[in-house]
Amino acid sequence: MPVRGQGPAGFEAVGSVAVRTFAAHQSHLTQRVAQPANMSMDGHHVNAMAGDGSGAPHNHFADYDELPEGHFYDPDAEYEPDPEYAATLAPDAARQRRERIGPTGRPLPYFPIPGPLTDHGPAKIIAMCNQKGGVGKTTSTINLGAALAEYGRRVLLVDFDPQGALSVGLGVNPMELDLTVYNLLMERGMSADEVLLKTAVPNMDLLPSNIDLSAAEVQLVSEVARESTLQRALKPLMDDYDFIVIDCQPSLGLLTVNALTAAHKVIVPLECEFFALRGVALLTETIEKVQERLNPELELDGILATMYDSRTVHSREVLARVVEAFDDHVYHTVIGRTVRFPETTVAGEPITTYASNSVGAAAYRQLAREVLARCHAE
Ligand SMILES: Nc1ncnc2c1ncn2[C@@H]1O[C@H](COP(=O)(O)OP(=O)(O)OP(=O)(O)O)[C@@H](O)[C@H]1O
Ligand SMILES: [Mg+2]
Repeated sequence: MPVRGQGPAGFEAVGSVAVRTFAAHQSHLTQRVAQPANMSMDGHHVNAMAGDGSGAPHNHFADYDELPEGHFYDPDAEYEPDPEYAATLAPDAARQRRERIGPTGRPLPYFPIPGPLTDHGPAKIIAMCNQKGGVGKTTSTINLGAALAEYGRRVLLVDFDPQGALSVGLGVNPMELDLTVYNLLMERGMSADEVLLKTAVPNMDLLPSNIDLSAAEVQLVSEVARESTLQRALKPLMDDYDFIVIDCQPSLGLLTVNALTAAHKVIVPLECEFFALRGVALLTETIEKVQERLNPELELDGILATMYDSRTVHSREVLARVVEAFDDHVYHTVIGRTVRFPETTVAGEPITTYASNSVGAAAYRQLAREVLARCHAE
């Protein structure tokens, strides 16, 4: 096996596999294991919003950085999140919890905590897809992936956007990579192991990308079976992972068609704003065409409402319209709008580790459980 030279900064070449050390990350992660919102220092559940006597709501989890020995974060325990985030999710949170009506207006089912796996694979491949830009594809890929990995699933994330935002969001500098998913697609004999990077999240690997991938869109046109190039490249990896999540670029070009041809399921993130549904017809038409002509197994797993802010009538109306249009296809889990997501990009890590007890982290954990529940229902 060829031994590659010094990889990009922060990576070590191990045989032919560049493995990120993440030493810097790890030390800073151990310093910041957060106190769960619902635990007091003596291990009892606390109400994070309980007043401090002054009448003002008080956010306890801001007080503790360290999780005391033997304590753990339980996403299912009743807890009151930071009031500001809570307001973006549900103005009437108490009533909703009592009646278990979710933000989509439907009764909220319980999504069980998935049990551990004794063996892994074959992978379910999920394409995170919407040709509209900035709707939360990359954010959802990273955080759904990290949440699935937390539940013990082996996860591979595929950066399939020449912008390399997924790679950046996991602390990788795309400009410094010499092998990317582009090489895997275009060079015969290239093995995925040579391109794979380990992320700081246990159980989660990355096939990174950079601007090189934009050339693939043009070069693939003259290839034989050009739509199934990614599918062929991922085949040898299927038994190593439980989930492969592909972060698509905002277009319906040949790269996205490759992702849809490789995938079993599509998740469509939709930003809760006025033009959310614009272009969705074109997307569903593309999914149907791929289903008919290239990949009969492909199905729409769900529509994921993102950047939801229930304080605005507008956001609530858009969500109601989306549920009206797509009914049971809309996930019960809705991702609220919070500045914590842009922060995680700068930090180069998922929200599940960056702000483990935040509402955003809890939302993606719930999404992971909902996705797993849908898989099991099949
Ligand atoms: N729930 C959220 N609340 C607030 N900001 C968010 C949320 N989700 C994503 N963002 C921010 O919105 C911006 C766009 O998100 P993201 O990159 O995930 O979208 P995308 O669909 O992948 O975009 P593109 O089409 O350009 O690839 C980013 O700055 C991200 O941090
Ligand atoms: Mg993106």
